[in-house]
Amino acid sequence: MDLLALETPCLILDRGKLEKNISNMHKRMKTLGVNLRPHGKTAKNIDVLKMALEDQAGGITVSTLKEAEYYFSHNIIDIVYAVGIAPVKLDRVVALIKKGARIALILDSVEQVKFVAAKGQEYDVEIPVFIELDCDGHRSGVTLDDSLLLDIGNLLHNEEGVILNGVLTHAGESYNCKSVGEIRDMAETERAMAVKCSELLRKNGLPCPIVSVGSTPTANFAEDLTGVTEVRAGVFVFNDLVMAGLGVCDESDLALSVLTSIIGHQKRKRWVITDAGWMALSRDRGTASQKVDQGAGLVCNVEGQPLNDLIVSSTNQEHGIISNRMEKDIDWDSFEIGSMVRILPNHACATGAMYDRYYITDGSTDIIDIWYRINGW
Ligand SMILES: Cc1ncc(COP(=O)(O)O)c(C=O)c1O
Repeated sequence: MDLLALETPCLILDRGKLEKNISNMHKRMKTLGVNLRPHGKTAKNIDVLKMALEDQAGGITVSTLKEAEYYFSHNIIDIVYAVGIAPVKLDRVVALIKKGARIALILDSVEQVKFVAAKGQEYDVEIPVFIELDCDGHRSGVTLDDSLLLDIGNLLHNEEGVILNGVLTHAGESYNCKSVGEIRDMAETERAMAVKCSELLRKNGLPCPIVSVGSTPTANFAEDLTGVTEVRAGVFVFNDLVMAGLGVCDESDLALSVLTSIIGHQKRKRWVITDAGWMALSRDRGTASQKVDQGAGLVCNVEGQPLNDLIVSSTNQEHGIISNRMEKDIDWDSFEIGSMVRILPNHACATGAMYDRYYITDGSTDIIDIWYRINGW
C-alpha cells in the first residue's frame, strides 16, 4: 500500500531512522558502560520497545500503569513506573506483582512510603521503591541537603512490605538548555547528585543497588557516568524538533511525522490549509523558546524532505495553517488541493498520543507494516 492511499491525518514512522536512533543510543551507552532502561511512554508500542531493549530480558521505564500492564502482557517483567505514586493506583501495582512483574515505584515523601508499605503488608508482597531525587529543580524529588532523603531511606529499609531499590532522578531542565555545553554540564550535575545521594544512603547503612538517571538530552551528551547503574531515555527512539533544536539530532533523524491533506488555499494571506490541526499535531509548542521556532511543526513533502521555511504557523482543532516563516509567497502548484504533505512534530510523545497506530515506511512512500499503540492511563 502507498502512503498516498491513507486517510489523513495519520502517523508515519520511518523504520530506518528509528533503527539508527536506537543504535546510536546503544553505542553511547556501551561506550559509557551503563545499562539503558528505555522509556516506553514515547512509542507506547511493543515493536519499538523490543528494538530499544537490546537484551530482551532488560528492564523498561513507564509513565502510566496502562503502559506497565501492556508491556507486561508482552513479557517485559522488569518495569520502573517513574511517576510519583498515588494510593488509588496501588491495587493495580499489586496485581502486576502477583502475576510476576518486577514493578518498582518512585516516591519523595514519608506519606507515600507509609501507604505503599501498608499495601505491601496487606497483600503480603514486597514493593520495590526508588527514592526520587531532584537534581535540577524541574518538578519533584528530594535534594541532597534535605534530611528527607535519609528519613525516607530509613523508613523504606525498616518497614515491611517495601524494599529500597535505589535512587532515581530525571534532568528535565535539560530541555531548556541553550547550548550543547550546558547539556553536558547538566548531565554531570544529574550524575553527581544521584551518586552523592547513593553514597550518603550507603554511608548510613542503607542499601542503594540502583542509581538511575536520564533524559534524552543528558543521555546524548554525558561524558562520564561513573557511579550510575542505568540510564532512562525515551524520546530518542523517534527524536523530534525540540531535540533537533537542542542539537541532540539533525532534522533528518526525525522518525515520526504526520501525513496531512491540503484542504484549502487562502492566497491573499499566503496560507495553505490542511486537515492536521492541534488534535493531529498536539498543542506542544516546545520550540517556541528555542533559537528556531518551528510553529506547530515543520512541513515536508510526501517523501519526508523538509520544504524550506514552511511551517505550521497556526492550528485550530482540525485545521492547520501552513505559511512561510519569512512571510514569502507560496508555490501554489506544489500544494494542490487534495495533495499531501508531512509534518515533523515538536514533541514526538505528545503528537504520538493522538493516534492508535503507526504506518511504517522504509524511507519510500510504501507502507510496509502497521504497528498499534496504546493510550490512556
Ligand atoms: C522520570 C523520567 N525518566 C526519564 C524520562 C525520559 O526522558 P526523555 O523523554 O527526554 O528521553 C522522562 C521523560 O519525561 C521522565 O519523566
